[in-house]
Amino acid sequence: MFTSLMGWVDARFPATKMWEDHLSKYYAPKNFNFWYFFGSLAMLVLVLQIVTGIFLTMNYKPDAALAFASVEYIMRDVEWGWLIRYLHSTGASAFFVVIYLHMFRGLIYGSYKQPRELVWLFGMFLYMALMAEAFLGYLLPWGQMSFWGAQVIISLFGALPVVGEELALWIRGDFVVADATLNRFFAFHVIAVPLVILGLVVAHIIALHEVGSNNPDGVEIKNKKDSNGIPLDGIPFHPYYSVKDIVGVVVFMFIFALILFYMPELDGWFLEKDNFIPADPLKTPEHIVPLWYFTPFYAILRAVPDKLMGVMAMGGAQALLFLLPWLDRSPVKSIRYRGPYFRTALTLFIISFLVLGFLGTQPATSLYTNLARVFSVIYFAFFILMPFYTKFDKDKTVPERVTMK
Ligand code: HEM
Repeated sequence: MFTSLMGWVDARFPATKMWEDHLSKYYAPKNFNFWYFFGSLAMLVLVLQIVTGIFLTMNYKPDAALAFASVEYIMRDVEWGWLIRYLHSTGASAFFVVIYLHMFRGLIYGSYKQPRELVWLFGMFLYMALMAEAFLGYLLPWGQMSFWGAQVIISLFGALPVVGEELALWIRGDFVVADATLNRFFAFHVIAVPLVILGLVVAHIIALHEVGSNNPDGVEIKNKKDSNGIPLDGIPFHPYYSVKDIVGVVVFMFIFALILFYMPELDGWFLEKDNFIPADPLKTPEHIVPLWYFTPFYAILRAVPDKLMGVMAMGGAQALLFLLPWLDRSPVKSIRYRGPYFRTALTLFIISFLVLGFLGTQPATSLYTNLARVFSVIYFAFFILMPFYTKFDKDKTVPERVTMK
């Protein structure tokens, strides 16, 4: 019965073909390791955010006079509302943890390099869309940090010459962040940006499956095939990796549940303390700080004394990540066979990103600002000097086939 039903469907819609192309006959390298869990985890968290978001929307009120109280209502009175809200707010931070680890994997194994440039670019657009989504969502509870964070970030557009002030006014829809701003942020957060994210995820996966996955050795498995055209070092994604990914999901859910049930706000790191005070346009909080996943870029912004230059530095810090496939001139992909220059540069880059992330959470004292300047220079040097140090690096010989150490 099942076969005849599938035959009927397949004559009208390529269900079996899609199943085979993307799962049962998608040959993935047999040496995937820990770092390869985060793509499927990103999909899991995306689904979690969408499902919890739908339930939050059922009780949330996108109205400046009601928003804060409606979130408290969800937390106190709605059945399981506290769980849905915390799943969503802790889920946002979990999303960025997963995405940063996923991007780090791309860096260490050179997954952005030819032929995966488009996989990386779609990924980068996803990263931008996720940051927009998180920023828009943070205004919705209408707490002090929601209000003042949005005020600060939107006012950055005001730094642009000629059109800046008009542009900021146009984005806010009012002279300060107000009800009009909340309404449009809500529209973008619940429908516009999620649609873009879903579309980008599809493009990301289609692009990946067109060229095939990279792996911890950075060896192209399509170069060595058997007589049936199947890569010698490839195994079908389903059942091998669909089962393996379940292990990642279980471990992730265990850690996520621990945080969710015992420290959902993580002492202000996942939900800032000031955001439990309703938005007050007349009272600026002492320290306006974005959530942790934005702080490396916030530190770069504050490290530059001129506002316009700061905005450009912050934008540049993100723009350079898009250019990575073309800045890296080494023929070697994986860190396992990279030379000392790239290894050192990547280590310094990761340190600078983490230190900037910390500095972005701290008050801008002169010591911290100077440190942020030093680490911003390291951050930019990683990209700007990359064409040189990757070209002259002393890379090792890459094996012909994947290794299973
Ligand atoms: C919603 C966000 C995202 C989702 C759901 C997602 C999902 C996935 C999945 C399922 C894979 C295949 C499994 C794996 O290799 O782990 C993958 C691969 C990849 N992703 Fe993402 N991704 C997202 C964001 C990003 C971002 C922000 C980047 C980088 C800027 C990125 C870069 C890559 C690269 C380079 C690969 C190929 C890795 C390889 O073959 O070694 N992705 N992604």
